[in-house]
Amino acid sequence: MDKINSIRKAVCCLLLTSLIARNHGATFNIQTKGAKGDGVTDDGPAIVAAWKEACAAASPPNSVLIPPGTYFTLAFTLSGPCQGPVEIKAAGAILKAPPELEKFKDDSWITIEKVRNLTLNGGTFDGQGHGTWTTKKCHDSEMKCAIPVNLRLSHVRDSLFKDFTSANSKNFHITLWKCDHSKFNNITISAPANSTNTDGIHIAKLDGLNITNTIIKTGDDCISFGDGSKNVYIEKVTCGPGHGISIGSLGKFPNEEPVQGVYIRNCTISGTTNGLRIKTWPGSQPGIASDMHFHEIIMDKVANPILIDQEYCPHNACKKGPPSKVKLSNVSFRKITGTSTTKEALKFVCSAGAPCENVTVADINLTFKGPGGGGATFHCSNVNPKVIGQNFPPACPAAAATAPQPTTY
Ligand SMILES: *[C@@H]1O[C@H](CO)[C@@H](O)[C@H](O)[C@H]1NC(C)=O
Ligand SMILES: *[C@@H]1O[C@H](CO)[C@@H](O)[C@H](O)[C@H]1NC(C)=O
Ligand SMILES: *[C@@H]1O[C@H](CO)[C@@H](O)[C@H](O)[C@H]1NC(C)=O
Ligand SMILES: *[C@@H]1O[C@H](CO)[C@@H](O)[C@H](O)[C@H]1NC(C)=O
Ligand SMILES: *[C@@H]1O[C@H](CO)[C@@H](O)[C@H](O)[C@H]1NC(C)=O
Ligand SMILES: *[C@@H]1O[C@H](CO)[C@@H](O)[C@H](O)[C@H]1NC(C)=O
Ligand SMILES: *[C@@H]1O[C@H](CO)[C@@H](O)[C@H](O)[C@H]1NC(C)=O
Ligand SMILES: *[C@@H]1O[C@H](CO)[C@@H](O)[C@H](O)[C@H]1NC(C)=O
Repeated sequence: MDKINSIRKAVCCLLLTSLIARNHGATFNIQTKGAKGDGVTDDGPAIVAAWKEACAAASPPNSVLIPPGTYFTLAFTLSGPCQGPVEIKAAGAILKAPPELEKFKDDSWITIEKVRNLTLNGGTFDGQGHGTWTTKKCHDSEMKCAIPVNLRLSHVRDSLFKDFTSANSKNFHITLWKCDHSKFNNITISAPANSTNTDGIHIAKLDGLNITNTIIKTGDDCISFGDGSKNVYIEKVTCGPGHGISIGSLGKFPNEEPVQGVYIRNCTISGTTNGLRIKTWPGSQPGIASDMHFHEIIMDKVANPILIDQEYCPHNACKKGPPSKVKLSNVSFRKITGTSTTKEALKFVCSAGAPCENVTVADINLTFKGPGGGGATFHCSNVNPKVIGQNFPPACPAAAATAPQPTTY
């Protein structure tokens, strides 16, 4: 009898499981976990509760539903590992952070960590950062207090982030740390041009990332790359205002991992202080950055459209004497067209200690649009680029390439 019962139970369980599986798992609505959506109550705990159930439930993929509405929430963390894929469905939902820094213990608002196969679908994440951008205390060069990042992703692998907005973060909007093989599509990032440190997406120590169809307006870098960024594909991204796309700064710390494989295609950069920039510290630790390719980019009134700066030294925070030991190689700039608001449209300041190698420029057409008029220029030091096709301005003469020229800022 017992045996038959347990067999019955097992069959029943199997049937149930397969039914649930056919229904693509279960949905955990944050409103059934106590979310009020009144814009006042902290709905973070309800989101975490729904996540915990979706993450732990059998028969994935399960989902967390954040129905349309406005939800106030303090900092919260969604942690894995989960039983299987989880989707966060937040289309039409607006999450708002507290404006006050005192409400945060840590340097993130929303943290997602140690998850595989996550889908974040929709939603607006509003950091309400306006009041914090002017707090000098926190945005000085030493960054002594922790200012929260809107969305901190750590060890989130094989995941998809789509159709969402990150607005007015107090600090960087989105940071990715060891998030291999993930994909961002149709994201909007938005903060005013004069906001402080509001980088759009910061990437570090990951292998495999695609960012497509995305609009990034900020007061700082559009997309920035730290060490260990590998195989990153960026396509159809619009940047501006802000400081453009930036690889580095590299070489500040010992044992940095190489940057290897950055492919930026079909992007528009508009009204930014820099366009495409690679920067390394002088007197630096050794490092490698290679296979960085920038193709079909439109520049619209960009101050420094193409810049390799191996003497990067903001706030005179370093010794300028010894050259950078970060070796840059296999770099190409192709079909980059549009306007520069400074005369030096292209500037390659490579390291005298580790000259840039295998740099190609092809089909560049950048015109100077600014007071005084005249032609744009192309400066090179410690690099002898391979030139293909017609380039405006014409690429630096080979003579200039070998003679190191100290630059002034
Ligand atoms: C991720 O999800 C897809 C589809 O749901 C599934 O085929 C794949 O095995 C999952 N991978 C992991 C690592 O869970
Ligand atoms: C940015 O500009 C706006 C409008 O001009 C001004 O109200 C605000 O104080 C400025 N913010 C910062 C951080 O400078
Ligand atoms: C992009 O995301 C927005 C929500 O931010 C959505 O309304 C729109 O349909 C998405 N576009 C595509 C092509 O999926
Ligand atoms: C990322 O982009 C590259 C180049 O377009 C493509 O080959 C690859 O399949 C993409 N990966 C994903 C996960 O979409
Ligand atoms: C850029 O986009 C256009 C239009 O979508 C497409 O025809 C072209 O092949 C793309 N170029 C690259 C390098 O992806
Ligand atoms: C640069 O590219 C060449 C040829 O494709 C390759 O042999 C070399 O290893 C690359 N350099 C680095 C530092 O990866
Ligand atoms: C430059 O390219 C050549 C030929 O592809 C390759 O052998 C060499 O390793 C490259 N140099 C670097 C520093 O990557
Ligand atoms: C370069 O761009 C300007 C306009 O920005 C255009 O008038 C000119 O014909 C272009 N030159 C080439 C060679 O494409």
